Amino acid sequence: MYSPEQTRQLQKQTNELLEKAHAHALHPGDAYRLQEVLRFHEYRYYLLNDPLISDAQYDLLYKELEKLEQAHPELVTRDSPTQRVAKGLTKDFPTVQHLVPMLSLENSYDADDLLDWDRKARELTGLQEIEYCIEPKFDGASISLIYENDLLVRGATRGDGVAGDDITTNIRQIRSVPLSARFSEYGIQQIEIRGEVLMTKKNFKKYNDQLAEQNLPPLANPRNAAAGTLRIKDPREVSRRNLEAFLYHVSYFVSPRGQHADPIVQTHSGNLEMLWNLGFRSPQQEKKLFSGIGKVIDYCHQFEKERDGLPYEIDGLVIKVNDIALQDRMGMTTHHPRWAIAFKFKARQATTHLRAVEFQVGRTGAITPVAKLDPVFISGVTVSSISVHNEDYIREKDLKIGDSVLIERAGDVIPQIVKSMPELRDGSEITIRFPKHCPVCHSTLSKEEDEAVWRCVNIECPAQVVERIIHFTSKDAMDIRSFGEANVRRFYDLGLLKDIPGIYRLPFERISQLEGFKEKSVNNLRTAIEESKKQPLHRLIYALGIRFVGETTAKVLAASIDYLPDFRKLTMEELENLEDVGPKVAGSIHRFFHTEGNLHMLEELEKLGLNLKSDKSAMVAGGNLHGQTFLFTGTLVQLKRSQAEEMVEKNGGKLLYSVSSNLNYLVVGEDAGSKLEKAKKIPSIRILSETEFLQLING
Ligand code: IVH
Repeated sequence: MYSPEQTRQLQKQTNELLEKAHAHALHPGDAYRLQEVLRFHEYRYYLLNDPLISDAQYDLLYKELEKLEQAHPELVTRDSPTQRVAKGLTKDFPTVQHLVPMLSLENSYDADDLLDWDRKARELTGLQEIEYCIEPKFDGASISLIYENDLLVRGATRGDGVAGDDITTNIRQIRSVPLSARFSEYGIQQIEIRGEVLMTKKNFKKYNDQLAEQNLPPLANPRNAAAGTLRIKDPREVSRRNLEAFLYHVSYFVSPRGQHADPIVQTHSGNLEMLWNLGFRSPQQEKKLFSGIGKVIDYCHQFEKERDGLPYEIDGLVIKVNDIALQDRMGMTTHHPRWAIAFKFKARQATTHLRAVEFQVGRTGAITPVAKLDPVFISGVTVSSISVHNEDYIREKDLKIGDSVLIERAGDVIPQIVKSMPELRDGSEITIRFPKHCPVCHSTLSKEEDEAVWRCVNIECPAQVVERIIHFTSKDAMDIRSFGEANVRRFYDLGLLKDIPGIYRLPFERISQLEGFKEKSVNNLRTAIEESKKQPLHRLIYALGIRFVGETTAKVLAASIDYLPDFRKLTMEELENLEDVGPKVAGSIHRFFHTEGNLHMLEELEKLGLNLKSDKSAMVAGGNLHGQTFLFTGTLVQLKRSQAEEMVEKNGGKLLYSVSSNLNYLVVGEDAGSKLEKAKKIPSIRILSETEFLQLING
């Protein structure tokens, strides 16, 4: 896509634009260059996964372009990086016809299926041996894109294969889909390409964590998350979910000489390469070419073992005849092309029976129904119980005791019930009834109007107290290693531990007399508890278990005050002004810090020696680069530029973008240019190699 020479040029222009941005010297004449440079960095980031500038630098240039375009609307082009974002909500997704029907694929499950398929393919073509191209079978939502005169004009879902929904606005939110691509260089005027929209496992987990923080049920798998996101009517929300797209098929194109006239590309792998060169994420790096089915079969078996190593979900591999002229000769059935077949991996789904539902009380009093299942084995683990979240979820999934249910375990995700199978019912199934009273303290349960969750509101409910203590000690919270759930329950039942401050007042003499507690384990526990007093504030905030305050919000909160009890002084409005804090979260924080018992608990914790001071001040004092300024120039070899910059910021240092007497350190990579020359003339600037920089960071 970009030659080494172009890359150098664009990086040089980037630096010039950054310097101009810092000097407030950008003018309308720079808009086109800004667009070009931003497109280049999107490509480095989203396709190559190898950014050359930091997120902050990208954002700065983006904002500058936005400003210029606002002041001079005539500068806005349809493929400007600012034009992904749409304002307002989408009304509906009109139905649109596909230029060519979107067919499905034939499936195969073992070597015999593939041998059969290859035999038929050889009969059809009269060849001894066929060249095949293999690529992942992406487990997402299929899309079709149309580009006309190099511009993206339409994006659609598969729908019924003949017509789908026009989701162009949402497709434009996917950063790895270029808004323009130079198909004209291949003599192509109009083209329809196909691919799959995905959510990576990492983003999926992040998304489900967010849902959990809001007490919403998680999505079953990344495929559902991707498909669901494509149908959201708020494009900004689509953008936030960070979808990705792989494009793997050219289904139709028109060149000025007519439809399908003399294709420049003769093979499927050639098409993947063309798409890659034009800035698309195609399986160019993942594809493999083999002659003969034997090697294909070996590869399929080998690859199945590596499946979990990928950052996204795949459900198999797709084997395609590589020669496009041969593909055309083989043709298709009404259901699938004869020139391609899917090799499906072993399912991560299984059916079993739902035998009972138990109701558990969480630390916020939320009652969680847990389905007990006949144990089933799915991809390496036995599953026998699954959370079914809340009453609405049970209703939506139409679950009854005795039902056959389909369950799925996607990658490293917690197993989920995908659906029940009402068609298999025999009439003996029993409706699931939600309790009216807490199963532990028997107080009446209550439910707020806009919520799906029933709660035990008795703050003293033993189940809640125990869960709060367990949460406090857990790995992501205060991380008190040798404590563990079982010990919390045991100490609580014996009356040795009543509340959170009680952790720091444990009667060790009595504990050492308990069965199973040797001197060493008592000492380990004592040390772990003592150590936890030094945990940074954001961990303590998370550990307190304030509703809606997950790890991310806890970090925001810790960075925004100096002393934890000061939250008492903030108004609702001030709280809502914090990053990521909406009215619901603000309300919860406000309530927490206006509850007498909680303030008293914080006082006690402080007396017991816990740290209630902000990480902010801790970091500034500890970060060994505090107050120092840094600039990088040239190509770094051991680190990515973005990593190096992150290190500076994490250690309390600041980044500058041009050489001046304010600069303390210039870190010099390979092929450094004018900045180095300039810096040499200012004696106060220290010039470091990459290795010296790493030594400085590591103290
Ligand atoms: S080729 C005529 N290649 O799997 C072209 N499909 O189960 C047919 N899929 O509808 C599609 N990865 O949505 C092709 N590398 C890949 C694929 C792929 C995923 C999807 C596609 C198709 C479905 C069939």
